[in-house]
Amino acid sequence: MTEDLSVYLDSRRTLVEQALMNAIPADWNVNARLRESAMYSLAAGGKRLRPIFVLTAAEAVRGEEEDARSAMPFAVAVEMVHTYSLIHDDLPAMDDDDYRRGIPTNHKVYGEATAILAGDGLLTHAFYVASQAPSLGVSAERTLAVVGDLARLAGLPGMVGGQADDMEGEQGITSIGQLEHIHLHKTSDLIAFSLRAGGHAGGASDRQLDALGRYGTNVGLAFQIQDDILDITGDQDILGKPVGSDERQGKVTYPYLIGLEASRRRVADLTEEAIGAIRSADLADCSRLEQIARYLTSRDK
Ligand code: IPE
Ligand code: IPE
Ligand code: MG
Ligand code: MG
Ligand code: MG
Repeated sequence: MTEDLSVYLDSRRTLVEQALMNAIPADWNVNARLRESAMYSLAAGGKRLRPIFVLTAAEAVRGEEEDARSAMPFAVAVEMVHTYSLIHDDLPAMDDDDYRRGIPTNHKVYGEATAILAGDGLLTHAFYVASQAPSLGVSAERTLAVVGDLARLAGLPGMVGGQADDMEGEQGITSIGQLEHIHLHKTSDLIAFSLRAGGHAGGASDRQLDALGRYGTNVGLAFQIQDDILDITGDQDILGKPVGSDERQGKVTYPYLIGLEASRRRVADLTEEAIGAIRSADLADCSRLEQIARYLTSRDK
């Protein structure tokens, strides 16, 4: 990664983390253990890729790097939904993993009941945070469109549905088409949401929203294939989560079906497709989105 991109990603991560730490109002009366458990996973770190995509998409539409502040409620919302999905994904009934973001998983520290409720709470609070966007200058109409997108792309036909397909998939998938369908929903949909939400905050046209969504879908699919590759070739200390989880759970993945080399080629091809999509969108500046897509192909965490 270039020095310039690294500085950019750090600066956006810092802004996102400040907003996340203040996202649950301090004066709300919340069960103390529930608040602590939700904050435990939110504060644990992670790449913050989805909220950064929200901010970068807004900047790409506007053509300025400063002040994507109006997009921040959507950035916080998507990171809350993502964090909840990880808490639930790690539960014994799902992937049964003990480490996440470099520390013990939520249920290992707080128990399953609190972990489930912390996930429920983060999911619900995401909608509260998104609904506050008009106070930062996003129109009520755009905010409503984003809330609808979030419910759809994170919900039953989106991420949650993809997780359900993933659970069934353990019982045997034979075609790459079935596997692609799972990955598109469990992972791409939330990433496509992030790009579209940032686009709305930046005032994107329908054509631009469509291109940003296509970029997100392709980058998202590449991201999950890379995640499957890293589950085999990665280093637990760098990843902050166990390797070999997929094999242990009997998951069918891209490397399992087509091998590591073909999986890497697919990541590269999808990345070029993503870049083609945003280049065609007449954005004010799509260079950051291009850089991020290229960097993700070589990520090791
Ligand atoms: C992990 O997501 C789950 C997948 C969809 C592959 P990330 O790799 O973005 O996890 P964090 O947020 O950096 O911890
Ligand atoms: C999870 O996919 C996708 C989610 C919606 C959470 P994985 O189960 O492969 O994610 P990791 O490897 O546990 O992060
Ligand atoms: Mg899983
Ligand atoms: Mg998992
Ligand atoms: Mg994985």
